[in-house]
Amino acid sequence: MTAIVDLDAGTALELHDALGPDSVVLPSMEALRRHLDIQFAEDAVVLGPTVDLVSALALAESMRVSRPSLGVILVRRYVDTTVLADAMRVGVFEVVEERDVAALTAAVGRSHDLARALRETVVQAPEPEDGAGRGTLITVFSAKGGCGKTTLATNLAAALADGGRREVCLVDLDLAFGDVAIALQLFPAHTIADAVPLAASLDAQALLSLLTPHSPGFTTLVAPIEPGSADAIPASLVSTILALLKKQFDYVVVDTPPAFDDHVLAAFDQSDIVALLATLDIPALKNLKLTLETLDLLNYPRERWRIVLNRSDSKVGLALSEVEKTLKVPIAVQVPSSRDVPASVNRGVPIMLDDPRHPVSQAIKAFAERQIVAHAVAAGSHALPEMRADRRGLLRRKARTT
Ligand SMILES: Nc1ncnc2c1ncn2[C@@H]1O[C@H](COP(=O)(O)OP(=O)(O)O)[C@@H](O)[C@H]1O
Ligand SMILES: [Mg+2]
Repeated sequence: MTAIVDLDAGTALELHDALGPDSVVLPSMEALRRHLDIQFAEDAVVLGPTVDLVSALALAESMRVSRPSLGVILVRRYVDTTVLADAMRVGVFEVVEERDVAALTAAVGRSHDLARALRETVVQAPEPEDGAGRGTLITVFSAKGGCGKTTLATNLAAALADGGRREVCLVDLDLAFGDVAIALQLFPAHTIADAVPLAASLDAQALLSLLTPHSPGFTTLVAPIEPGSADAIPASLVSTILALLKKQFDYVVVDTPPAFDDHVLAAFDQSDIVALLATLDIPALKNLKLTLETLDLLNYPRERWRIVLNRSDSKVGLALSEVEKTLKVPIAVQVPSSRDVPASVNRGVPIMLDDPRHPVSQAIKAFAERQIVAHAVAAGSHALPEMRADRRGLLRRKARTT
């Protein structure tokens, strides 16, 4: 899809006619930014001649970091070398002249091709030499029950899998009372407890045979059926399992019990990101503050923390600014409260899959893309800067030579 912005309705329509039904017209730069926040598949933006150069360049500059696969194409009445030089400096994909429809459609085509290639490059990035595995591990934790860990973990895994675009494994480490299988209406043939007798010889192949698939790109390792089996699972086995899964999957999401037990600490050790959940009530916030202090004591790097405020619009009288001031850590994402969430759990389908446009789904999707995928790309792919250089090379030098 291509998003078009032009402040003049007639010009916007002409651009839309040139680019066909796969494009969408937006009336302002603010509308475009809102659109990009929720349309993750968008990979080309056409900024028409009435969009002022400063805002156009500012958009290109911010997107080059936060969303490198997005090609910003600038349409100008006249193209001169000053515009080209400025555009190149901030990473504009191409600059084309207003009346040159062929150049515009070709530029949009190239932007889509490149976005596709870039995505494939990122997904197929070689394993890092340090043996850390290719995947990013995210542990979802709160020291208090009922905050929405399982809700976030299941929906986050679905968001990351994105219909099969990425490979994701969700691990239920709530070994005594795990309810991932129920929340996803799975009928598992195996659970994590089946890894115990294999421990000495556990390899990727054996581990993969214990997984229960859910939907394209989304598979699970569920908790034992019998609550008592938790004690039989050593923390070292959890470490081995997570390390093996990180090598096999793009993302591993870990759901946890509401306690700092050895299994959870083993997951923290392997986590690239810890999503720490709280709700807007004093007990939850007190527990979150204690959790943060504990993580500090354990020397757990703060740049890996992401605070997720669930049911953030509940009318309970606590202001968000007060919460941030108390915690001294910014809130990464706010997930609204909705009765559609328990309804989706009862149906056994994550709301992310049932209703991707729901505000709860969109909040979690934005968290997945901006805080997790963006982090993984920044941390793991050395291919990106080179791709940027290639892209700049594609900038069309259409300066008027007259
Ligand atoms: N954003 C939300 N809006 C409404 N209900 C929610 C929301 N998030 C979670 N819930 C509900 O709260 C309850 C506890 O959520 P759950 O994810 O099981 O918490 P935990 O795993 O932390 O114990 C569930 O009934 C769930 O449906
Ligand atoms: Mg739970």
